Amino acid sequence: WQATEFQNKVIAYYRQHGRKHLPWQGTKDPYQIWLSEIMLQQTQVTTVIPYYESFLNKFPTINHLAKASSDEVMHLWSGLGYYSRARNLHKAAKMVAETYDGKFPQTQEAIETLPGVGRSTAGAIAAFAFDQPSAILDGNVKRVLARCYGIEGWAGKSSVLKTLWQRAEENTPNHHTAEYNQAMMDLGAVVCTRSKPKCEQCPLSEHCYALKHDTITQLPGKKPK
Ligand code: ADE
Ligand code: SF4
Repeated sequence: WQATEFQNKVIAYYRQHGRKHLPWQGTKDPYQIWLSEIMLQQTQVTTVIPYYESFLNKFPTINHLAKASSDEVMHLWSGLGYYSRARNLHKAAKMVAETYDGKFPQTQEAIETLPGVGRSTAGAIAAFAFDQPSAILDGNVKRVLARCYGIEGWAGKSSVLKTLWQRAEENTPNHHTAEYNQAMMDLGAVVCTRSKPKCEQCPLSEHCYALKHDTITQLPGKKPK
């Protein structure tokens, strides 16, 4: 099917059922969006929320974060896990303070040079904060695309990852990109879950390869042993 049909269904789903009141959705401040995306990389929404709020209370701007001591930063992160995220966050804040005079970089390319920010996170920040038409491909989106298009193999393999990114890029609309990206995250998190996806609630079910061929449990492919 066509990318425009896919986009329309995904965006329509978002407008009816998507999450619209998460704390980082009320802002266009790239610092706040970046912070949320880093916290959400390996941690669930409900766990992230209180950490996100106390972090912003203590460090309301990226310059506050840049000036903090490592101890202060690690203390506020304590309990969230994956502590290299906090070290990279602090390092990136200092970089922005020094290299960009405290102004968060505005292009996907520049955002991607910050420590701890990969292609997908940079895409999310560029779309959410700057309304750029950047694609995302986090774990949830990989699952939706792998099932929907029957993309086999483990996403840790570069050829598989390349196919997934091609689909992600192809399907990402040039307008309403933020809504579309949030919708794809929501679909993966809420509908197309790892086990027992709720296909009857899914806007993509009509065309879904895995549903049609009964291969949901095989997709996405696991790491070969
Ligand atoms: N996971 C990663 N980014 C997210 C976001 N913006 N909202 C909800 N879950 C997410
Ligand atoms: Fe996932 Fe089911 Fe939707 Fe296919 S129809 S994308 S398996 S939720």
